[in-house]
Amino acid sequence: MIFREGAFRIFPLTAATAAMEKTMSMSIGCVGCGNMGGAILAGLAASSLDCALYGHTRTAARMAPLEAAGVTRLDSARELARQARYVVLAVKPYQAEAVLAGMAPELGPDKVLISVAAGISIARLQAAVQGRCPVVRCMPNTPALVGKGVFALCFGEGVTEQGRADILRFFAELGVCLELPEARFTAFSALIGAGPAYVFGMMQGLVQAGVTLGLGRRECRDMVAALFEGSAVMAARSETPLMELRDQVCSPGGLTIAGVNVLDRAGLAGLLVDAVLAADRRGREMEDE
Ligand SMILES: NC(=O)c1ccc[n+]([C@@H]2O[C@H](COP(=O)([O-])OP(=O)(O)OC[C@H]3O[C@@H](n4cnc5c(N)ncnc54)[C@H](OP(=O)(O)O)[C@@H]3O)[C@@H](O)[C@H]2O)c1
Repeated sequence: MIFREGAFRIFPLTAATAAMEKTMSMSIGCVGCGNMGGAILAGLAASSLDCALYGHTRTAARMAPLEAAGVTRLDSARELARQARYVVLAVKPYQAEAVLAGMAPELGPDKVLISVAAGISIARLQAAVQGRCPVVRCMPNTPALVGKGVFALCFGEGVTEQGRADILRFFAELGVCLELPEARFTAFSALIGAGPAYVFGMMQGLVQAGVTLGLGRRECRDMVAALFEGSAVMAARSETPLMELRDQVCSPGGLTIAGVNVLDRAGLAGLLVDAVLAADRRGREMEDE
């Protein structure tokens, strides 16, 4: 699914564009096949995209499940940069510039570098590849590991329309993607990158409540996970304001309104706002460190 900032509406590919892109032969490689790089390659391997997939990572044994899924293992980052048209960089941020320096000789205007390294700006990426190829900055969140990520993308100068369409299509296979100006990446990180931590915290509280009422811990966890999934799907599919969806669950004089009153008195919405603003402040401090 692809969103664009502002309207936040889904941009479906036209039938003609989709057909063209499905038949077009593409190649994508990933340098660093740990949690995020491995998830990206595994997700693309499981998708209906018609593309050659390459991977290179320091510990070759990590590649075995990806190779079984159809990814070709390459012996160096430089070789991967030679073979793949789209090169995803998924090593730790402190390793990124050294790895890019080794790949740079193979990069050119026909390639695109897509970095998921947190906190490394487009300007730094462009400097690290010595301006040889266009670069894209991407910020995923952890549900990308199960094919349900949210990806913010910012395209640097020189990415062609075809390149942009290809990249949006790759990431749409792995979850929801939206284009954001780079200046909004810290806000995105505070809300969506950090978001799973807030959600897991809320889930833990509900599991604890269920256990307190005598329900089994495992069944509470499963029920609470299904509760979040179901509510999220309802919210995503509906145009109804969230407060109205909430009110629809609160029958007059019923048990839900009794619980909701407690949350309102404690200021749940305000607490969430404060949490995201604190994360955003910390993110900005870290950019200056
Ligand atoms: N995980 C997330 O949820 C998440 C969210 C947002 C952004 N990111 C970004 O994603 C990037 C990767 O994070 P991760 O969580 O996937 O880390 P990770 O699991 O440690 O994966 C990094 C991988 O890079 C490999 N590597 C290290 N140096 C290399 C080199 N010189 N050449 C080739 N491969 C090399 C490592 O190999 P070894 O197996 O030998 O260690 C490892 O497999 C980071 O930049 C992070 O900021 C991750």
